[in-house]
Amino acid sequence: MGIDVKPYKDQPNSRKEQVTEMFNNISGNYDFMNRIMTFGVDIKWRKKVVKMVAETKAKTILDIATGTGDFALMLAEVKPQKIVGLDISNGMLAVGKEKIKEKQLDHLIELVLGDSENLPFADNSFDAVTVGFGVRNFENLDKGLSEIHRVLRPGGIFVVLETSQPEKFPFKQVYKIHTKYIIPFLGKLFSKDEKAYEYLPESAEAFPYGNAFNNILKKNKFISVQNYPLMFGAASIYKAYKKADK
Ligand SMILES: C[S@@+](CC[C@H](N)C(=O)[O-])C[C@H]1O[C@@H](n2cnc3c(N)ncnc32)[C@H](O)[C@@H]1O
Repeated sequence: MGIDVKPYKDQPNSRKEQVTEMFNNISGNYDFMNRIMTFGVDIKWRKKVVKMVAETKAKTILDIATGTGDFALMLAEVKPQKIVGLDISNGMLAVGKEKIKEKQLDHLIELVLGDSENLPFADNSFDAVTVGFGVRNFENLDKGLSEIHRVLRPGGIFVVLETSQPEKFPFKQVYKIHTKYIIPFLGKLFSKDEKAYEYLPESAEAFPYGNAFNNILKKNKFISVQNYPLMFGAASIYKAYKKADK
């Protein structure tokens, strides 16, 4: 199962509905907030994911929870035949579509509205699947991961970039101050939806990371699972594969 942290705690609707509403609300300045919250380091992290995918020479790539399409756009460097970005928020996809049009990559990248827990794709249809800061938001984590496993071709690569938590002094303390005070403050200052920037650190704190997330990937049939902590553990990359056919 996923974590039980909702953005709008006073509302009765499901976590999935709330997460969708939240991303629709913040889509307009999501990219700007991302850059200031991570001091732009997220670009460096994303490049590492793109490199891992490039090494496999993937021709068909699915970017789940693509949001405003940052990963989908960067993955164009891999020179695949097709990139599909899927997201549950229309608002985020609308921003992504504009960025793709601007870069004249409409022939390569298709953005699709959909739910990671019920993917509209055939079994074994992609050489690579990526998720950037998305798995934490799945309502049912196992369902989302098993769907990703289903649509990935045997031998295909799965790469996740997600928040995690530094464990050592002083990074643990600096991270706590950043997530508990600075991010909500930036949210209040720059975002129309300050609850979203309270949800972000709360969901990051509750989400399994490191070995705990490796084990969840293994439970969902991924193999050769490895994790790579970034910036003293503030984020992590997880690399895994679907077992190849004999
Ligand atoms: C933090 S944003 C990440 C966006 C983008 N991947 C990036 O790296 O910037 C999380 C995204 O996950 C999407 N999302 C959450 N739950 C989803 C689901 N069940 N299926 C598809 N997308 C989902 C949200 O709409 C949002 O765009």
